[in-house]
Amino acid sequence: MILVTGGCGFIGSAFVLRWLQDQDEPIVNLDLLTYAGHPGNLAPVAGDPRHVFVRGDIGDLPLVRELLARHRPRAILNFAAESHVDRSIAAPQAFIETNVVGTVKLLQAAHAFWQGLAGDEAQRFRFLHVSTDEVYGTLSADDPPFRETDAYEPNSPYSASKAASDHFVRAWHHTYGLPVVTTNCSNNYGPRQFPEKLIPLMIHNALKGLPLPVYGDGQQVRDWLHVDDHCAGLRAVLDRGRVGETYNIGGRSERTNMQVVHAICSALDELVPRSGGSQYADLITHVKDRPGHDRRYAIDDGKIAGELGWAPALAFEEGMRQTIRWYLDNQSWVESVTSGAYRHWVEQNYGGRARAA
Ligand code: NAD
Ligand code: DAU
Repeated sequence: MILVTGGCGFIGSAFVLRWLQDQDEPIVNLDLLTYAGHPGNLAPVAGDPRHVFVRGDIGDLPLVRELLARHRPRAILNFAAESHVDRSIAAPQAFIETNVVGTVKLLQAAHAFWQGLAGDEAQRFRFLHVSTDEVYGTLSADDPPFRETDAYEPNSPYSASKAASDHFVRAWHHTYGLPVVTTNCSNNYGPRQFPEKLIPLMIHNALKGLPLPVYGDGQQVRDWLHVDDHCAGLRAVLDRGRVGETYNIGGRSERTNMQVVHAICSALDELVPRSGGSQYADLITHVKDRPGHDRRYAIDDGKIAGELGWAPALAFEEGMRQTIRWYLDNQSWVESVTSGAYRHWVEQNYGGRARAA
């Protein structure tokens, strides 16, 4: 079996669902259920004995040690993190606790467990750390895309915390020999993304007739990667990635934020036209820019493509259409993750206070 952390979040849940669709190997899912983790994301596998859910913190060393001893996973995939840049600017502490300290604790537990393995089990064990392209900093329009050999130049508290975690993962390999692999991917999109991130926020606001807040001039560029393509890339790295290496994963889809917002508006104009002849783009409102806002991210995926034969399968336009349809068909999901009722449900079912950013 494998141990996944953060499996109730956006990318982690996509990974768990796809994993259990594709094979019978069980998953232990350790998730703290912060505001971003939603057990409903895993509704399709509720009651499936191959999915063992444990509510807990990656920084809880005794808990993680006990889970590893009990389940003896062949791999750990670390998705758990505080992931939203704006929250990291407003309240950085949780990012340091989970992304830095939590990851180090997880590494300590993994190392102790791995040391106790022998032969084949020790050989094939992997610690896969899921990270971000934001660690490389920002690009100008003419710069070549990020490569694995680029220097780290994180600019936000979020990216600094992820960069720190990447360095610790690297150190646990070089110093202690832990068999790690790290992935740095670009902006994911797809179903079940919490509506604080650009794409789901714009869909959500548009459908409610609220302003669509574009930071600054909206000419910042992101590379968009469908979450299912990302999960396929993670599988390739887990199965065939070289120990101690890092792999960039991108969507080959650079777009300005204005292009993305207009694409959402046009799709909604077709699918759910507004009354009175107005268009969704009328809701676009330029607001104050994000402090320290990175201008452009772009990924050179030559390494993962060449070594592991991975490439994104979904074109951005098709992926966006599918994503918008998913949000239209799952308005109750949006209501449940944004309403206080869901937090109340977590408190009742799991007790204690969930740590929120
Ligand atoms: P998310 O915010 O949707 O989910 C994070 C999950 O981690 C939640 O389920 C949350 O409850 C859980 N979690 C948070 N703190 C925890 C802790 N201390 N212990 C256990 N669980 C905890 O994040 P996401 O978008 O799914 O991102 C997953 C990973 O991928 C993160 O490491 C993020 O940095 C990275 N990443 C995300 C993107 C993106 O576009 N979303 C891009 C690049 C990299
Ligand atoms: O690049 C990978 C990163 O992508 C991940 O590591 C992060 O976890 C993930 O949150 C994402 O970070 P971004 O800051 O790029 O994503 P976000 O959706 O917050 O913003 C995307 C762009 O849209 C960014 O340039 C800021 C802008 N934006 C965002 C919001 C929420 C707006 O203009 N208006 C908004 O309301």
